[in-house]
Amino acid sequence: MLTLALIAQKGGVGKTTIAAALAVAHQRAGAQVALVDLDQQGSAAAWSRLRGGQPPEVIPAHPPSLRSTLGAAKKNGTSLTLIDTPPRERAGAAEAAKHADLVLVPCQPSMPDLLALPPTLEVVAGTRAVVLLNRCPARGSWTAEATAAVHQLTAELCPVVLGQRVAHAKAFVRGQSAQEFEPNSPAAAEVAALYTWLQEAR
Ligand SMILES: Nc1ncnc2c1ncn2[C@@H]1O[C@H](COP(=O)(O)OP(=O)(O)O)[C@@H](O)[C@H]1O
Ligand SMILES: [Mg+2]
Repeated sequence: MLTLALIAQKGGVGKTTIAAALAVAHQRAGAQVALVDLDQQGSAAAWSRLRGGQPPEVIPAHPPSLRSTLGAAKKNGTSLTLIDTPPRERAGAAEAAKHADLVLVPCQPSMPDLLALPPTLEVVAGTRAVVLLNRCPARGSWTAEATAAVHQLTAELCPVVLGQRVAHAKAFVRGQSAQEFEPNSPAAAEVAALYTWLQEAR
């Protein structure tokens, strides 16, 4: 079982959106997936309710119960477990990173997000962490500048970049992922590329 945690000390960077999209991608590939929601705000759980409880399964959990939750998922034959985490909460993020094989750190190409990277990378130290640029505008030098900033931090950067795509938001409020909502959209293609990268990165 691969355990992937989505962690960023900053909120609103795409942790839940990307966790849900990757969960759906794995399910569509015919494999069993679980999405563990460590965020007490329960965005992933709310998305699951909007989905009418259809898979992928979303499991609300607290940091102390994470180990047993992951153990149960493994016993059930889950081959990918995603952990969605809250912002500004070091203990939960550290616990998620401890149990993860890989950490994805979504980051928008903006100064506030880039400034929040070092504290996030510090919390997840000890586990391989990959920065994933999200909500990148199609125009301007934002993405190139953010790429340079991540390299300066000597952090690993995901070769897949997610654009600013309204399909993600539209899909989420319907309890869907971009791949389900608009299969031929750039948003869906980027999620597919991210999922392919994940298969190879594991
Ligand atoms: N690539 C994207 N393009 C457009 N909107 C996005 C993208 N990724 C996330 N969003 C939107 O950004 C907001 C925050 O995303 P969310 O996944 O809830 O972040 P987090 O879980 O890190 O707080 C949501 O409204 C979501 O729809
Ligand atoms: Mg969230």
